[in-house]
Amino acid sequence: MRRPASIAPPKGKLGVLMPGMGAVSTTFMAGVELVRRGESVPVGSLTQLGTIRLGKRTEGRVPKIKDLVPLAKLDDLVFGGWDVFPDDAYQAATKAGVLDARDLTKVQKFLKTIKPMKAAFDQSYVKNLQGTNVKKGKTKFDLAEQIRQDIRDFKKKNKCDRLVMVWCASTEVFLKAEDVHKDLKSFEKGMKANHPAIAPSMLYAWAAISEGVPFANGAPNLTVDIPALEEYAKAKEVPIGGKDFKTGQTLLKTVLAPAFKARMLGMNGWFSTNILGNRDGEVLDDPGSFKTKEESKLGALEYILQPSIYPELYGKIHHKVRINYYPPRGDNKEGWDNIDIFGWLGYPMQIKVDFLCRDSILAAPIVLDLALFFDLAKRAGMRGIQEWLSFYFKSPMCARELYPEHDLFIQSMKLKNTLRWMMGEELITHLGAEYYD
Ligand SMILES: NC(=O)c1ccc[n+]([C@@H]2O[C@H](COP(=O)([O-])OP(=O)(O)OC[C@H]3O[C@@H](n4cnc5c(N)ncnc54)[C@H](O)[C@@H]3O)[C@@H](O)[C@H]2O)c1
Repeated sequence: MRRPASIAPPKGKLGVLMPGMGAVSTTFMAGVELVRRGESVPVGSLTQLGTIRLGKRTEGRVPKIKDLVPLAKLDDLVFGGWDVFPDDAYQAATKAGVLDARDLTKVQKFLKTIKPMKAAFDQSYVKNLQGTNVKKGKTKFDLAEQIRQDIRDFKKKNKCDRLVMVWCASTEVFLKAEDVHKDLKSFEKGMKANHPAIAPSMLYAWAAISEGVPFANGAPNLTVDIPALEEYAKAKEVPIGGKDFKTGQTLLKTVLAPAFKARMLGMNGWFSTNILGNRDGEVLDDPGSFKTKEESKLGALEYILQPSIYPELYGKIHHKVRINYYPPRGDNKEGWDNIDIFGWLGYPMQIKVDFLCRDSILAAPIVLDLALFFDLAKRAGMRGIQEWLSFYFKSPMCARELYPEHDLFIQSMKLKNTLRWMMGEELITHLGAEYYD
């Protein structure tokens, strides 16, 4: 990829379109509005609070990221979404039960204006959901064309200069890439023939790319991670990325595992279990959707620990992930980890992590950062997979010949170096030998 010669300024409005108006997307929209009104602080958002060091440590140049790269302003964001339920964003947020009535009431009028467009939905891909706000069409291609029309109508009605799409809808059943996904021609033929390996999320992704709209996938579904849509995104000069927001348990996994590996401590096993009671938990109670999530959660350790390079340390790991739907907890998940490690002479040790987290509170700032960074990438002429945004994903997409980078600190360095590179600043290697000349 070549360094952007220039980056178009973020003038006018940026529409953030979200398939799925559930817990994550409504928490994101309500939060942005509260921040815009000066009622809150965007905690967890790198684009809003993060800084970036430029030049030598002696120079003292540490601007905010948003002052280095030209990002859209929060005031310029407008929101839209699709859902299988007709609830407006206020009703959906109230049902999701993430934010207190105290916060929701302040933005009630605003959220009530955001009504979901009809979803492209098929229950065979999300077994535990049933809704009425659903598009009708003879073929998947027809449904995708309707999504394209929705995108154009939204842009016009809201007088947007640009759009981005972030998938915040339910996790679909596990699908593997197959022949119908291999190139654009087969994929478009497959949509017209209602091929079962083309899930609704792929229709949104295809529609977004067709309209020149960047697409980020917040769930572990295959969606845009197929050669056909990668090829299409490159051809249309559209940035794409995914998969699965890296929020609670996996965030900690990708912090702890690199620490053990850096110190050459061995591992026998990692048992992760979760209890959660929101709609996401209910959807994941179906084995098909759980399998998609499980694959996404399992990948990180294997790639970080590299058992084939370190067989004596990581050759015999038992890695298990469980998700249990437990309604009393709502969105406030509990993630337990038991980690069996070993040290000098093979002596065993145990670590227990009990993270009482709030899923959507962790995910909302990720939606914001992804929307702003994908818009930046588009204005900078960066197309195809945006691997530099792996920082935000549990199961990061990357070029076919590469393995994904999961280590949070490498991801963070990569993200910040990409921003420096985009702006023509010197990259930071952390060598620092010059300070001791
Ligand atoms: N919250 C987190 O920490 C986190 C982390 C990683 C990934 N995710 C993923 O983000 C997604 C959203 O999570 P959530 O907690 O908001 O779930 P949620 O169940 O509250 O919301 C998802 C919404 O998507 C809708 N939907 C399903 N299929 C649709 C379709 N084809 N078109 C339009 N709408 C559709 C559902 O009706 C639902 O309202 C899930 O896939 C979840 O696995 C969440």
